[in-house]
Amino acid sequence: MPDMSIELLPGLKLRNPVIAASGTAGYGDEPFRLYDIAELGAFICKGTTLKPRAGNPQPRIMETQDGLLNAIGLQNPGADAVIHKYAPMWSAWPTPVMVNIAGECIDDYAEIATRLDKVPGIAALEVNISCPNVAAGCLEFGTTPEGAAAVTAAVKASASLPVIVKLTPNTADIAALARAVEGAGADAISLINTVRGMAIDINKRKPILGNTTGGLSGPAIKPIALAMVWRAAGAVRIPVIGGGGIATAEDALEFLMAGASAVEIGTAALVNPTMFTGIIKGIEKYMLKFKIANLRDLIGAARK
Ligand SMILES: Cc1cc2nc3c(=O)[nH]c(=O)nc-3n(C[C@H](O)[C@H](O)[C@H](O)COP(=O)(O)O)c2cc1C
Repeated sequence: MPDMSIELLPGLKLRNPVIAASGTAGYGDEPFRLYDIAELGAFICKGTTLKPRAGNPQPRIMETQDGLLNAIGLQNPGADAVIHKYAPMWSAWPTPVMVNIAGECIDDYAEIATRLDKVPGIAALEVNISCPNVAAGCLEFGTTPEGAAAVTAAVKASASLPVIVKLTPNTADIAALARAVEGAGADAISLINTVRGMAIDINKRKPILGNTTGGLSGPAIKPIALAMVWRAAGAVRIPVIGGGGIATAEDALEFLMAGASAVEIGTAALVNPTMFTGIIKGIEKYMLKFKIANLRDLIGAARK
């Protein structure tokens, strides 16, 4: 059988490159889950802030052509729930869990990183500097290389856990952003978060989302995401986790060939939670068909 495992970072080995993206599978405790988390390469929990957050006014979610608009506004139970409720559960999982963290100011990021560091059950931090839905702060951090570097440096100084910085597509130059966070010490980058978007109810003559704008995800953003992963992977030496609109094994293979060492899948799994299994099997089938013994040989294959 082909070897689908990947050592994403020193000491952080994934059994395959398929990761559940933040915000689309909660904390992994929902009883209605339809797939076995043990199948996944890794699991990333909902974006978590120091204190619990209620999120944005409803409506927060709507379907679009081939996509999903959301403006959840980082509703989450706060860092204490992760430490006392979820991390003990994750400790027993065979799948590494990365905690997606967010904050309204740099001190928030430093504080949550300090609190989560060395908590058993947490394998890495994914730093969300790119949430387009939170009015205070986040947006500014993520869109400029200076802001992104400042958050990265603060988290790195506060935690010994591996730090993955999640980049926004809502920026002028993704390569500059990627280089800035690499320079500030990020161990890896992930991209893309959602693309800013909106919809208007023409009968009410009002924006549909309670937050006016939201973030677009799902197949509609895949070509944008792929081009950004391609550019970012060409700009840095640290590992890249790619995603945005992946819905099939073929989509995932495109991101790996663009230079991603692993892939994140969110919206597609909301549509069909058994999707992960099919994507993992599909990558394996491709490797068998083309006699590729090791996943490493696919990473960046389209760049050579
Ligand atoms: C409902 C929803 C909630 C999300 N929440 C978060 C979050 O808390 N933190 C984060 O970094 N990304 C969040 N995301 C972004 C996803 O993790 C992912 O980066 C994005 O949706 C693109 O991938 P996809 O097209 O496979 O969904 C969220 C996406 C959706 C659809």
